[in-house]
Amino acid sequence: MSEKKVITIDGPAASGKSSTAQMVAERLGFLHVDSGSLYRAATAAALRVVPDPAEWTEEVVLGAARAISLLPARSSFYPVMGGRSVEEEIRGDRVTANVSAVAKMPRVRDWVNETVRNTSADHNVVVDGRDIGTVVFPKARLKIFLVADAEVRAKRRLIQKAGEVTDARLAEETRALLERDERDASQTVPAADAVVVDSTILTQAEQVAKIVALAEDRA
Ligand code: CDP
Repeated sequence: MSEKKVITIDGPAASGKSSTAQMVAERLGFLHVDSGSLYRAATAAALRVVPDPAEWTEEVVLGAARAISLLPARSSFYPVMGGRSVEEEIRGDRVTANVSAVAKMPRVRDWVNETVRNTSADHNVVVDGRDIGTVVFPKARLKIFLVADAEVRAKRRLIQKAGEVTDARLAEETRALLERDERDASQTVPAADAVVVDSTILTQAEQVAKIVALAEDRA
């Protein structure tokens, strides 16, 4: 079997990694794997078992995460628990507020990395996250580090949540994003050979086209 191709897209919170990765995957006929969805699913699973995050230990989170599996759907994979999609649950504010603490747990990181590698094993993939180009697939053929100004990221996230974009909401969302960037900083480092793409003034179509062109160049 020929060696599978891997493209990694890392970057800070709400920089558009997942939606971009999904579109790049579709354009290239690859599959998309979202590592953040596993950290989020582990957080949602832990909240179901022990509602107070102050009481979480690594064992609690790992035990809860056993209920999670990734199911393929179209060109991506989605976490399910007990046979049901948890896509909506994992995007909620409670999960977002607690996911960075879960992502600090070394054995949870091992579990995510192993799950991502197993899921990617038989396919050409676009994988997005924070440390995919540095830790999970250090030999990937193309590594992207996607950045954008914090306020632009906050505005996109508010629109994605179908919320009204008022000055107050934008200020609050920007503050929350910067706080999460800070908590995630140690695992969000660009690989030395990553191409930095700044999407602040790019449309989604433009950033997808740019990454597809880079991928085709390296093929
Ligand atoms: O909201 P956003 O799309 O930026 O984040 P996500 O990709 O859904 O990831 C949610 C959280 O998982 C992040 O805030 C990180 O704490 C953690 N994460 C990580 O530590 N390493 C990864 N490879 C992916 C996500």
